[in-house]
Amino acid sequence: MGAFAGKRIVLGVTGGIAAYKAAELSRLLVKAGATVDVVLTQAGSEFVGAMTFQSLTGRPVWQSLWDDRMSNGMAHIDLTRGAAAVLIAPATANVLAKLAYGVCDDLLSTLCLARDCPLLVAPAMNRQMWENPATQRNMVLLRHDGVKILGPATGDQACGEVGDGRMLEAEAIFDELYAFLQPKLLAGKRVLLTAGPTFEPIDPVRGLTNSSSGKMGFALAQACVEAGAEVTMVAGPVMLPTPHNVMRIDVQTSAQMREAVLKNLPGQDVFIGVAAVADYRPKTVSAEKIKKNGKSLTLLLEATDDILGEVATRLDAPLCVGFAAESQHLETYAESKRKAKKLALVVGNLVQDGLGGETNRVTLFDATGAYPLPPAKKIIVARGIVAHLASLMEKCDGKPYANH
Ligand code: PMT
Repeated sequence: MGAFAGKRIVLGVTGGIAAYKAAELSRLLVKAGATVDVVLTQAGSEFVGAMTFQSLTGRPVWQSLWDDRMSNGMAHIDLTRGAAAVLIAPATANVLAKLAYGVCDDLLSTLCLARDCPLLVAPAMNRQMWENPATQRNMVLLRHDGVKILGPATGDQACGEVGDGRMLEAEAIFDELYAFLQPKLLAGKRVLLTAGPTFEPIDPVRGLTNSSSGKMGFALAQACVEAGAEVTMVAGPVMLPTPHNVMRIDVQTSAQMREAVLKNLPGQDVFIGVAAVADYRPKTVSAEKIKKNGKSLTLLLEATDDILGEVATRLDAPLCVGFAAESQHLETYAESKRKAKKLALVVGNLVQDGLGGETNRVTLFDATGAYPLPPAKKIIVARGIVAHLASLMEKCDGKPYANH
């Protein structure tokens, strides 16, 4: 079943060259199962014709406030009733100004004022128009009114200038809309998680680390935000961009990760250990670069503290989720980690499936059994983990979480 199955989206297309990307966006939405009703402004139709959208969506395109195809003649009311969202892409400076001030002088602006569903806009304009104080003032008003702003991106513009104001690519808008429409399963909850590898120094230039990319942890942080949680992420050394609305704390070593976790633990409802934390670190760190002398070198390692184990056994422990990365015997090892660390949930993955890449295949282990999720992109897997986590929390029904 498509990601948008059963959902109807009203796609507003206004007059900018990025209107050509709206054609691709409507195709992606239809392919994902959405019913797409395109509302094309007069200026939008100067860039892309109604026939293009009609062919791509298989539905009539709406262009006029006076369109009499609705039996009651009220397209500006009926089009948004039952819709999951109105999305305007591209949204010109003109339509943003109209939305900010409640001007309704055509079908699109009028239905936005009359809507009873969320509104998302993907601005697209020349960088000077975007930076103009009038536009920026309008964006403040729109944000204040609860309108979700997607982008804009930075880069080459059709006018030949370079800067902010490019519309996001169709695929990015699709992903943002999908994320926005996720059920708010963790509304009001606070989630603390770790992500990425740690780096344990040997000397000023060398250290011990592993190949965790941080992608799984960052995807889980994003999925928790999408589900309505307030998220704090303690991240080891990775170069990934921070997911929107995530409070990120960067650390290097397992000791720094432990310190950041313990400092941010009070008041959290959930702790998730996605990080591949070093189990051992050099017992001493050389202050100077170790010189080579052609002979073998012995490093003495000492065990690091187990952050997840320590959190889970506290009297005030939040609901704890661990990850288990194994190269074999996933079920046996993951289950024994769950029991040994007294965790409510363990997400088991084989390193060959999950480490470093864009996709993962995981099995969820809790006190009631093992639940495999289908292999998928990490953000999709993360949403599956969040759904399972939310169902475990619901079972607690306000009582303290039981990590066992
Ligand atoms: O980052 P990616 O490239 O996207 O890869 C994702 C991943 C494979 C790293 C991730 O899916 C994963 O499996 N993370 C846990 C890796 C791991 O260290 O597993 P473990 O079996 O060694 O540790 C078990 C649990 O204890 C983990 O939740 C870990 O965060 C935690 N731990 C381990 C050691 C330690 N000193 N402190 C800890 O908190």
